[in-house]
Amino acid sequence: MWLVSQILPVIRLYLVGLKVLLYQLFNKSFALPVFPKQNGRVAIVTGGAKGMGYETARQLTSLGMHVVIAGNCEEEGIAAVKKIQAEKHEGKVDFQYLDLASLSSVRQFVQKFKDRGLPLHVLVNNAGVMLVPERKTEDGFELHFGLNYLGHFLLTNLLLDTLKKSGRPDSCARIVTVSSATHYGGVITLEDLQSRSCYCSHGAYSQSKLALVLFTYQLQQRLTSGGFPVTANAVDPGMVNTDLYENLCSLAQLAKRPVAWLLFRTPAQGASTTIYAAAAPELEGVGGCYLYNGRRTQSSDASYNEDLQAKLWRQSCALVGLQDEGRRAD
Ligand SMILES: NC(=O)c1ccc[n+]([C@@H]2O[C@H](COP(=O)([O-])OP(=O)(O)OC[C@H]3O[C@@H](n4cnc5c(N)ncnc54)[C@H](OP(=O)(O)O)[C@@H]3O)[C@@H](O)[C@H]2O)c1
Ligand SMILES: *[C@@H]1O[C@H](CO)[C@@H](O)[C@H](O)[C@H]1NC(C)=O
Repeated sequence: MWLVSQILPVIRLYLVGLKVLLYQLFNKSFALPVFPKQNGRVAIVTGGAKGMGYETARQLTSLGMHVVIAGNCEEEGIAAVKKIQAEKHEGKVDFQYLDLASLSSVRQFVQKFKDRGLPLHVLVNNAGVMLVPERKTEDGFELHFGLNYLGHFLLTNLLLDTLKKSGRPDSCARIVTVSSATHYGGVITLEDLQSRSCYCSHGAYSQSKLALVLFTYQLQQRLTSGGFPVTANAVDPGMVNTDLYENLCSLAQLAKRPVAWLLFRTPAQGASTTIYAAAAPELEGVGGCYLYNGRRTQSSDASYNEDLQAKLWRQSCALVGLQDEGRRAD
């Protein structure tokens, strides 16, 4: 039993990885088309100081948006802002502190953002960690689940009223959530979301990324039934050469290097589908999609399980201390 729960998630994750690499070997990366200017629109990009988040923040700024980089390292965040500003884009960019591994930090971030009186047209849930040894967030949640998923769950819910007010029927506000192909190998264990019974970092990462897809679909369903001008989509960036892989064991690091050099996407390429989801005119009003390499793709069977979506939502509300407002009488 122990072996199964330790080894199976690892095998699943590497099989998914292999499939993605095969795809990337034979398929070119999605090339970003030219988008109309987005002046006046405001975006938040979590983890926007480096990796794909940085490229996303940079591109959205170049489209004329006002981008708020939300990150947990002030120094790095301000350096990123300066670098983007030096390119003299039309849009604005600034930094606001957000630690997704702390629910009180998420709440403080939202309060501070709301105090600025800005609208919000695009929320990019991009930040994440991968394959971290067993660790807990400030609130005692398993780190992958707590940071990648619960932090973004709370952030999105607290910003939802601003997003609803900022969207228009012909120009919806957009929630773009970065998931991963590893979600295909992910398993949600509602009785043990915190991986307490048996910790495996591969399983924990995959679970957090599956949770983000389930969340996106449930969110879209709620937005649609409420008639709100907001859409929610999930994005799969492919395998991208970023610092995300820093927690691989040294042997895997060694093997990764040449593979990454040959087959991984660059951060700019990896960010292209996220930017597409945030700005493409053809996605106006379109939500509830899983987007990969610039097009709609099927996510895992488990992700479409509406019962699981609803149960996960309810449990997540309880875990972060949110009233489940959109809940229908059942
Ligand atoms: N790279 C890939 O192959 C790949 C594949 C599929 C999905 N993804 C997803 O893509 C997203 C972006 O990752 P990336 O590849 O660009 O990796 P990355 O360069 O490591 O970026 C991750 C970002 O998340 C931030 N972050 C980490 N902990 C945080 C916290 N507690 N609070 C706020 N921000 C925090 C990081 O900031 P600090 O470093 O300053 O903490 C960093 O800016 C992630 O969600 C990842 O799961 C990546
Ligand atoms: C290349 O992309 C096409 C279209 O998305 C897909 O059908 C095909 O399977 C991909 N090739 C590989 C090797 O994955």
